Amino acid sequence: MKMIKVSNLVHSYLKYGKTEEDTISVKALDHVDMEIDKGEFIAIIGHNGSGKSTLAKHFNGLLFPAEGTVWINELPTSDHKNLGQIRRTVCMVFQNPDNQIIGATVEEDISFGLENMQIPREQMQDRIDRSLEAVRMTDKRQANPGSLSGGQKQKTAIAGAVAVSPECLVLDEATAMLDPKARREVIGIARELNEKQGITIILITHFMDEVAHADKIFVMDHGIVAESGTPEELFREPELLEKYRMELPPVTRLAYSLRKKGLPVRLPVMEPEDLAEQMERIYRGEQIC
Ligand SMILES: Nc1ncnc2c1ncn2[C@@H]1O[C@H](COP(=O)(O)OP(=O)(O)O)[C@@H](O)[C@H]1O
Ligand SMILES: [Mg+2]
Repeated sequence: MKMIKVSNLVHSYLKYGKTEEDTISVKALDHVDMEIDKGEFIAIIGHNGSGKSTLAKHFNGLLFPAEGTVWINELPTSDHKNLGQIRRTVCMVFQNPDNQIIGATVEEDISFGLENMQIPREQMQDRIDRSLEAVRMTDKRQANPGSLSGGQKQKTAIAGAVAVSPECLVLDEATAMLDPKARREVIGIARELNEKQGITIILITHFMDEVAHADKIFVMDHGIVAESGTPEELFREPELLEKYRMELPPVTRLAYSLRKKGLPVRLPVMEPEDLAEQMERIYRGEQIC
């Protein structure tokens, strides 16, 4: 059974002009097919406007297919009877930390989400405890969300989602407004949720360094899935992603340039430590490729 299966999905938005004749339909998703297994760490990348958020909103029934079908654990999103179940299965965290928190305290915010999902009251405290622990925010339980940093707000939003016990968490550019340290922390938490709790993660981002550990990457371009593969497959040739206006991490490009200059660097390089180690071995005259 596929956790998420997307078949032939088309989504169009109406773009309103001054007159009815000026109003046009814009295809944001143009026959998308995709399959995601339970427990995978998936990254979806692509330039602005390529259709990533539109696709994400189909994963938990915030949008419905004009054509094609989206199944979550075999339940089609087009059937309204399935929506409660689907929204407990796939939870979303969005870009702007300020738009997602409504409670007067962190704890209250998480309990609102649980009430919305009709989680029994007697389970609430335990779920709040565990989700705050998972994002390392236990000490902020009674904090006023207004006093939190952007990173802490996103961690609260993640805790709110995790408390629902979803099988899948979609982070739609959830790190875009964070500083590098908070960004790393949020990505670290996503990896931990995936590895320790088996939660399927769908990470939508335009930071290439965040996708280095994904099991699989989908590259969106103009409403289609233009490429898919492991980070190793997609990061081997900078030209492959540059075609879609995506830029590789500096260390990946540097390794590629060194290789072009004739140094026997093993590609792709995703982490500075890997390149440093390879350079040391090359310097010592060891054979590495
Ligand atoms: N609510 C909307 N109304 C009209 N057009 C939209 C709306 N949301 C997105 N679009 C358009 O759909 C396309 C895909 O957008 P989106 O899914 O937000 O892409 P991404 O998340 O990759 O930046 C873009 O051309 C965008 O302008
Ligand atoms: Mg988006």
